[in-house]
Amino acid sequence: MSPDTGVLFRPFQIKSLSLKNRIVMAPMTRCFSPGGVPGENVAAYYRRRAEGGVGLILSEGTVIDRPASRNHPGIPTFHGDAALAGWKHVIDAVHDAKGVMGPQIWHVGSVPVSDTDWLPDGPIESPSGLLAPGAPRGQAMTEEDIADAISGYAKAAANAKRLGFDTVEIHGAHGYLIDEFFWEGTNLRTDGYGGATLPERSRFGVEVVKAVRAAVGPDFPVILRLSQWKPQDFSVKLAKTPDEMSAWLVPLREAGVDVFHCSQRRFWEPEFEGSDLNFAGWAKKLTGAATISVGSVALSGEFIAAFGGEVSQSAKLDELLRRMENEEFDLIAIGRSLISNPDWANKVQSGHATELQGFEAKLLGQLV
Ligand SMILES: Cc1cc2nc3c(=O)[nH]c(=O)nc-3n(C[C@H](O)[C@H](O)[C@H](O)COP(=O)(O)O)c2cc1C
Repeated sequence: MSPDTGVLFRPFQIKSLSLKNRIVMAPMTRCFSPGGVPGENVAAYYRRRAEGGVGLILSEGTVIDRPASRNHPGIPTFHGDAALAGWKHVIDAVHDAKGVMGPQIWHVGSVPVSDTDWLPDGPIESPSGLLAPGAPRGQAMTEEDIADAISGYAKAAANAKRLGFDTVEIHGAHGYLIDEFFWEGTNLRTDGYGGATLPERSRFGVEVVKAVRAAVGPDFPVILRLSQWKPQDFSVKLAKTPDEMSAWLVPLREAGVDVFHCSQRRFWEPEFEGSDLNFAGWAKKLTGAATISVGSVALSGEFIAAFGGEVSQSAKLDELLRRMENEEFDLIAIGRSLISNPDWANKVQSGHATELQGFEAKLLGQLV
């Protein structure tokens, strides 16, 4: 018998954002935007997920106006007339299919990608010129660079609203620029943007959120994506206790975050010993904000192993449904399973979850 998936299809409202269900398309970089401009193929790809019933689409990471904000020539920018016209076409196509969408605003910091030797026009930048402890990459940002980056996030958010997007997500996770400030392993600064404690190292993130909030006004929902883990080191925990997590997240919440998007590789893994709450569960409990969870929903294997060629079979939804019934978090993001099943939401809602396809990396070779 197929499980009762009704909890996934309850509407959700926050500020000006109304969602018909709790299913979010996770941001996934696809590198199909030559010259940084998303074209017809990108619009059709997102439109297809809207037609497939997903409640909220978060775009692939799309970068702010800094010389080295991206690390691959196929990553879309979120600045410049041509790219913004491309994004306007994307949101119009999604709205036409009754979808709801926000761009994920990004700066890669000093993180490289392995499948290209392409280099950006300007110098690679990061808080202290590091990719990881003991691994130099890029140059340390000056306070002027920092101010310009903050203004880049704010301008991108203002453009998201102007183009008609329904929300905006700031990418503060996965070892990229904002996260490089959070992490003691990559932020050795001795000015006001560094420090021994996580709240001190959060100043950059807090200033980005404040600038974005000021740019979009009080009613436009702002999502912030965070992760404890980094691709540079899966074992890192920025916050080792609930108290440390509270000291990290509450200032970000007060700066203007409406929704924390708490990235885990496996959503069912407890964040701290002694409770089975996951990261999104703790973030909700500690801040009162709405939260999105993510990580290996409907799949047997996690996404980094998938990049290495591991094939994931489709997996049951029972544990997800249990946690959502308990209101541990508000929304659930689906990544790879939405690449292999554009109609994920419609399939699950109509009782056909057992027909969901698994995932393998070769699917990333084309944008469909
Ligand atoms: C191809 C691919 C590209 C990704 N790109 C991004 C990205 O641009 N921004 C981001 O925050 N996460 C990115 N992620 C991580 C996903 O948003 C998601 O957190 C991860 O895939 C786990 O979800 P899943 O197990 O349902 O796939 C990417 C994942 C994949 C598979």
